[in-house]
Amino acid sequence: MNLTKEQCQFFQDHGYLVLRNILADTEVADLQRWAQEVYDWPRNDNSPWMPYEEVNAEGKRVLCRTENYANYHRGFNQLLRGPKLLGMLRQLAEEEMLLFKEKINYKLAGSGGFSPYIDSTAYTHIKNIKHLTILLAVDPSNATNGGLNVVDGINLEAGELLVFGLYLAHRSGANKSSSDRKAIYTTYNCAREGDLHDPYYEDRKTLWPPTHLKKEGEEYAEGALRYGFGSPMLSVAMGRHSSALGTMSPDETVSHILTLLTTHGQGDYIGEPISQLAHSLQCAHFASQQSSDPEFIVAALLHDIGQFLPATEARSLSLSVKSMAENVGRVGHETIGAEYLRRLGFSRKVTELVAAHVPAKRFLCAIEPSYYEGLSGASKKSLQFQGGPMSEAEVEDWRNGEWWEDMCRLRKCDDSAKVVGLEVEDVMAYRERIEKCLSGQNLEYLESV
Ligand SMILES: [Fe+2]
Repeated sequence: MNLTKEQCQFFQDHGYLVLRNILADTEVADLQRWAQEVYDWPRNDNSPWMPYEEVNAEGKRVLCRTENYANYHRGFNQLLRGPKLLGMLRQLAEEEMLLFKEKINYKLAGSGGFSPYIDSTAYTHIKNIKHLTILLAVDPSNATNGGLNVVDGINLEAGELLVFGLYLAHRSGANKSSSDRKAIYTTYNCAREGDLHDPYYEDRKTLWPPTHLKKEGEEYAEGALRYGFGSPMLSVAMGRHSSALGTMSPDETVSHILTLLTTHGQGDYIGEPISQLAHSLQCAHFASQQSSDPEFIVAALLHDIGQFLPATEARSLSLSVKSMAENVGRVGHETIGAEYLRRLGFSRKVTELVAAHVPAKRFLCAIEPSYYEGLSGASKKSLQFQGGPMSEAEVEDWRNGEWWEDMCRLRKCDDSAKVVGLEVEDVMAYRERIEKCLSGQNLEYLESV
C-alpha cells in the first residue's frame, strides 16, 4: 500500500501513525483465528515458540504472551514479513526494514496497565538498533479495555494498526472490560543492521526462558531485569497476582541486593582506606543512629549501589537514563544507582535519597564552608567532577525539594563512613528493613518490550 505524503509527514512530526484500512475483513478474520491458534499451541520441552504466563487476579496461572512465533506459523510469517507491512515501514523509515521480534499480548479482563515508556534503548544489548514497532489490534482496543495510549489516546478496531518509533512515549490503562484483548506487537530494525531476529531470541531464551521451561529454584535475575522487568510475567515467580510488581519477588530482590553488596563490595572504595562494603555498612550504621526510618537507613546502605553493578548493567542503565531526559550529560553512579533501585521496586524516598547524595555534597559545600574543609582529599577532588558547589539558584531549588534535610543528613553519614576498623552490624541485619522499602509503587509494565 502507498502511504500519502500527509501520512508520512504526520509520522515524522508525531512519531506515530494510525492506519485503519490496511487489512480486509477476511484478513482480520484470519488474524483472529491465527492469534487463537498461537494461543492454543502446545507447550513442551521442544517447542521453539515462547509462551509466558502470569498469575491472574484469581490466583490462576494463565498465558499472558507468546513470543517468537513468526518462524513457525505460515500465516503470521507471511503477514509480518510480507510486502504489505514491510512496504509500509519502508515508506516511513525510508529504508528497508526486517522483523526483529514479535509477540502477542493477551491482556486479560481485569489486568493492569503499563506506565509511560519509550523503547529507544530497550534492545541495546543486541545492537543499538533503529527500530519501528507496529501494534496490530486483534480485538478492538480502546480506553475501556486498556488499549495503548500515545499522546491523545487511540482507539483501534480489530485489524487496525499503530506504527510508532523509538522515541514515542506510550502507556496503557487497565483492562476494565469483561473480555480479554489480544494485541500483536512487532518490532522491526533496519535491514542494513542485519537480521537480528534469531540472535535476539537466542539471548532471551537463555536469560528468560518461557515459563514452562524455567528451572525450579533458578532466579533468572538478569533475565528478569532485561526481559521481564515490571511485567506481569514476574507474578509467576511471586506465586500470586499483583498489581504492584517489582522485577522480582520482594524476597528475591532482597537476596539479590545482599548478594550484590557482599560480592561486589569487597573492592576498594576509591581513594579511601576501607572497602566499598565497609563504607556502605558504616553509612547505614550512622544513619540508624540518627533515625529509625527504614527508608533513610536503607538509602544510606545502598547509596553507592551504582558502583556495585556489573559494567554492562551500569552502561545500559546509563543509556536508559540519557534517553529519558533531555540535556543529560555525564550520568553519575548516584543516578544509575537510583534508577536501578527504582526498577527493583524501591520506594520513591529511597531512590531520591540515593540520587541526591552527590548533589547534597554540592549543596553543603555551597552553604557550609566548614563542611567543605572537612571533606577528605578524595572527596574534594571528586567535587570538581560533580559540578562544584551549587549556585545560589540551585541552593534555593534544593531547599524547595522534598526530603532535602534527610538528603543532607545522609550525605554527612556518607562522609563519616570511612573509619578504618569500625565494627558495625553485618549486611544481613538489614534484610527486613530492605524489604520494608520495596513498595512496588514504581511499577512499570513494559507492554511493548
Ligand atoms: Fe558513599
